[in-house]
Amino acid sequence: MHMSESVSHQVAAMPVTGGGDWNPDMIRHEVSALKHKPGALLPILHAIQDRIGYIPEGAVPIIAQEMQQTRADVHGVISFYHHFRTRPAGSHVLQVCRAEACQARGGRALESHIREKLGVDYHNTTADYEFTLEPVYCLGNCACGPSISVDNTVYGRMSPQKFDQLADRLTTTVIELK
Ligand code: FES
Repeated sequence: MHMSESVSHQVAAMPVTGGGDWNPDMIRHEVSALKHKPGALLPILHAIQDRIGYIPEGAVPIIAQEMQQTRADVHGVISFYHHFRTRPAGSHVLQVCRAEACQARGGRALESHIREKLGVDYHNTTADYEFTLEPVYCLGNCACGPSISVDNTVYGRMSPQKFDQLADRLTTTVIELK
């Protein structure tokens, strides 16, 4: 499979950006679609985050009631898995690969540059809500590392300089004069 240097490929559909409106019926719908499966809580949480962008605090009592579990149980699972967000994500979700092949190709320097430039650590969102920074352990682009993905698009052979250009491009608003 050919991997280009910049935009390499789209990773499997996994809506990760933003945070939408929600209502209790949405939560109940996701719960009832999956609650009869074994180990249903995790798939339910994934489904809710995929749909809304995060797991709203207000969803927890609904999930707990529908699943006949305690709120503490549901909270425990949400906080155990860093994948789950309890607040809306920024406009762009940036995942930095921390797995071995990327680390061997300069991934460590790249990740410290990114954290410094954005002023946030993993699992956090920048103050302007532009970026949510997440670690990831392999994006399937190991030969072209270090790799990152932004909103599910994978970028290989990333360097601090290229990242700066990409971040500027993503945050530049084009104003059209009529
Ligand atoms: S190790 Fe980074 S993409 Fe596989």
